[in-house]
Amino acid sequence: MTTAEPRHPLVVAHRGASALAPEHTIAAYEKAVEAGADALELDVRLSADGQAVVIHDATLERTTDGSGPVHERTLQQLKRLDAGAWFGEAFRGQRIQTLTELLERFRDRVGFTVELKGGSDFYPGIEERVLTFLQIYDVLDRSLVVSFDHPALKKLKGLDRDVRVGALVTGRLLDPTALAPPGILDAVCLRAELTTEREVELVRKAGLEVYVWVVNEPLLARRLAGWGVRGLITDRPDLLRPLFRDA
Ligand code: G3P
Ligand code: CA
Repeated sequence: MTTAEPRHPLVVAHRGASALAPEHTIAAYEKAVEAGADALELDVRLSADGQAVVIHDATLERTTDGSGPVHERTLQQLKRLDAGAWFGEAFRGQRIQTLTELLERFRDRVGFTVELKGGSDFYPGIEERVLTFLQIYDVLDRSLVVSFDHPALKKLKGLDRDVRVGALVTGRLLDPTALAPPGILDAVCLRAELTTEREVELVRKAGLEVYVWVVNEPLLARRLAGWGVRGLITDRPDLLRPLFRDA
């Protein structure tokens, strides 16, 4: 993320400080920055009119007062929805954000872990669109693009060698070098429940960084940091960041 190697793992706020405020909203991201998160994690999909919007689910029901698939709604329709009241009355009025709104607001304060919820086979042109915004807002050097859609990561790297990409992996890892051809990946993102020291070692020996999600327990965070994990993706940046402050 920066040229100087930090002394602690990067604390990446998963959907913002999503245990404290409704995920992916300005409230959640502001709380994450207040807590000292090093980076914000955000899930990106395309709306019906091709806008890059930040929302986890493919459908609107769980985190908004709308319904139906995100990709069938225009940005104007999505912006009418409330994305905060489901979490608590205090958050009523929070809105779905676009990628550009979040980059514009936070780019001088923090890095970004941008997850493509699907590549161009599902959201045509999403790689070009996301890459263009990271370039325009000049945040490539402090961003990591991650996805379960590994072909999308390969496409991104082909578009710009400078974009840093990380493969999300759901299961245990046999061979990190089998995930993509050489020179594609910069990182592998492992599920906390299925991560052992062996996986972390394997990935690091392959010359790749390790990110682990979701890590909300301080004891686990310390253990993973001891294994050389580069990034901890957490709903609780407020709990994890103080663990790694300089004494
Ligand atoms: O950062 C990885 C993690 O966000 C992937 O899972 O379902 O929370 O997007 P999910
Ligand atoms: Ca995600």
